[in-house]
Amino acid sequence: MARLITDVARRFERAGLCYGHGTDNAEDEAASLVFHAAGLAHEDAPQAYGRRVPRRARERLETLVSRRIDERIPAPYLTGRIWFAGHEIRVDRRVLVPRSPLAEFIQARAAPFLKRPQEVRRILDLGTGSGCIAIAAALAWRRATVDATDVSQDALDLATENVRRHRLARRITPRRADVYAGLGRARYDLILANPPYVPAAVVAKLPAEYRHEPAGGLAAGRDGLNVVRRILAGAAEHLCTDGLLACEVGDSERALQRAYPKVPFLWLEFENGGGGVFLLDAATVRRHRAQFANAVVRPAARKTRVR
Ligand SMILES: C[S@@+](CC[C@H](N)C(=O)[O-])C[C@H]1O[C@@H](n2cnc3c(N)ncnc32)[C@H](O)[C@@H]1O
Repeated sequence: MARLITDVARRFERAGLCYGHGTDNAEDEAASLVFHAAGLAHEDAPQAYGRRVPRRARERLETLVSRRIDERIPAPYLTGRIWFAGHEIRVDRRVLVPRSPLAEFIQARAAPFLKRPQEVRRILDLGTGSGCIAIAAALAWRRATVDATDVSQDALDLATENVRRHRLARRITPRRADVYAGLGRARYDLILANPPYVPAAVVAKLPAEYRHEPAGGLAAGRDGLNVVRRILAGAAEHLCTDGLLACEVGDSERALQRAYPKVPFLWLEFENGGGGVFLLDAATVRRHRAQFANAVVRPAARKTRVR
């Protein structure tokens, strides 16, 4: 099996694939497909490497490898699953492939940033996609309920399936909402958001792999901040007194700091890599409320033609 993984990895390197959907190199990507084709789990790894791979599994693997190379389909869409914060999440092209560094923040139960972590009762996962953040959060804060929201009904359908698979339907509610519209006056101890944040011009130049993902999961206007601005503008109305907002903006970090030069965003560092995630506590959000409200781009007023 080890030899097979190396051979597949070489083919991936020759084909010049782009990684970033769960792995960051050819060897790990190859291993994920070989394990899947052979019907093996991660835990089987130590014993599995010396084994022979049966012919049927090799045939399955060849189909997966060809599709990965010829169609540039991200590996998790081929295997149908990925691990997020240690939890298995089903994925398909209705949702972005989970890869947010927020996984690490959630696994650490937001330490040391929450004043009373044991008192977290209500969590919002804004832009839930597959439901990965909502599920990880519900399993990290076992006494909390989670609203898992998205504008995409397709995403919510898959999130609902994932929530059921993890037997969390009593604590996670998938809800259709456009940022906060649809949530009424609900307030949360913790708002977790991995919204779309890629500038339109950058999306247009992304490697072919990203074109398999739903565009609504990536693109967010000219500077990538269209959705983030709205998250900031409504945060004061939806955070509890001691609440916390954690939001990923990726490479749009600099654009965000330029847009709000007076706001003391706290940028997280991660042991497992990744970045571009800021924290704001509710008091800071309230202090800068007016600035956040003014920054929202409102749709141009419709002109009425005078006959
Ligand atoms: C970057 S993906 C993140 C998905 C998932 N949370 C994750 O980390 O893998 C962003 C998600 O936000 C959703 N979204 C886009 N615009 C939105 C909006 N205005 N309100 C709520 N969700 C939105 C997209 O449909 C997509 O599922």
